[in-house]
Amino acid sequence: MRPRRFLPAGPLKGRIRVPGDKSISHRSIMLGALAVGETRVTGLLEGEDVLATAAAMRAMGASVKRLDKGNSGAEWVINGVGVGALLQPEAPLDMGNSGTSTRLLMGLVASHPITATFTGDGSLSKRPMGRVIDPLTTMGASFEASAGGRLPLILKGADTPVPITYRLPVASAQVKSAILLAGLNTPGITTVIEPVPTRDHSERMLRGFGADITVETDADGARVISIRGEAELRPQTIEVPGDPSSAAFFIVAALVVPGSEVLIENVGLNPTRAGIIEVLRLMGGSIEEVSPREVGGEPVADLLVRHSALRGIAVDPAIVPSMVDEFPALFVAASLAEGVTTTSGLEELRVKESDRISVMATALAAAGARVEEREDGLVITGTGGEPLVGTNGAIATHLDHRIAMSMAIAGLVSRTGVEVDDTRPIATSFPVFESMLAQLATDLAA
Ligand code: S3P
Repeated sequence: MRPRRFLPAGPLKGRIRVPGDKSISHRSIMLGALAVGETRVTGLLEGEDVLATAAAMRAMGASVKRLDKGNSGAEWVINGVGVGALLQPEAPLDMGNSGTSTRLLMGLVASHPITATFTGDGSLSKRPMGRVIDPLTTMGASFEASAGGRLPLILKGADTPVPITYRLPVASAQVKSAILLAGLNTPGITTVIEPVPTRDHSERMLRGFGADITVETDADGARVISIRGEAELRPQTIEVPGDPSSAAFFIVAALVVPGSEVLIENVGLNPTRAGIIEVLRLMGGSIEEVSPREVGGEPVADLLVRHSALRGIAVDPAIVPSMVDEFPALFVAASLAEGVTTTSGLEELRVKESDRISVMATALAAAGARVEEREDGLVITGTGGEPLVGTNGAIATHLDHRIAMSMAIAGLVSRTGVEVDDTRPIATSFPVFESMLAQLATDLAA
């Protein structure tokens, strides 16, 4: 455990560039590892979750190397094995804290004639895997999972995988992607029907790598995504845009700390990810998009964020999939807004790295916020900009990076600070979070 007390701060001023998008980073390594030839990736997130994906792809035969480029960061060079040619890993694949690595890699292994064991940390071992086990079983894979369809589990891939048409029972980009990745090495056409749109990085990137993939909308408005199997992927050069989910912590920080003005460069604004910006604007947040452009096939802009008096709102549950990871940060903003913020339709938050509804309710209440927990969301009555009291003891983060970072931000607008029991999980997605926070504070002192 590495506890830390996050103390009240003056205005945050300056410019930062958040690390690469986690979802896109995972996918670049996986698809690079399946393309024959050399894929080059810049801006890759070097967080623990993505490194777990890199290690797993190496264990299955790909070459994944990091080249240091001095001031211009690093370039990752991946030499893939080809679809259908993944090797059987000799040791269990340790997925650490990463649900995305686990579920997407289960998809890849499921249609290869190999067996792999997946293990993970205490948080990941509590998360449901049935949602991918079910469709992948229909495709011909077999599983020996721990009780409740959890890790550790052994996955035996199909010798002759069969294509399926699968309607997603939960709005999950991980489940969608697992099936599409399994479809890559499955003869025929594999189809996923998505009643509620989720992040579409897999579709975009599969197309970029040359897979035959179509996306249509059916009569009910559902997205129908089909991929032709036994694909041959062509290696790519990829620039990963900044992660909007990481930017969200600094967007909220700049909005709630009086006097702040922060420019966050190179933030990915894929519409399937940008819900938090829309919601914070509806609450009165000043977030300006500067120099909109395209990076790596994704819309990107710099965001200029200024301290704003926020007002509580009822968040439309239809927007949840496009900001599913941003609710912990939003709850902090709501705690400091004027009036009541109501959130609903958040059942999926209970099966993330922690139960983010209950853990954030407990953490914010301990810091002095007025929070009511409901089955599918939180109702928060904000302070109207007055600082929270702060915590006596430490907040329990339950191995959840986003709880740690959200409560760190809450500490900036508190009287006595907010203590977080363990900052180590932050390294899963945002290893430089604490130094960036310090940098914005240093800019103030300078
Ligand atoms: C992700 C999908 C989301 C998200 C996770 C990353 C992805 O999970 O919460 O952080 O990269 O596909 P679900 O598919 O479980 O909603």
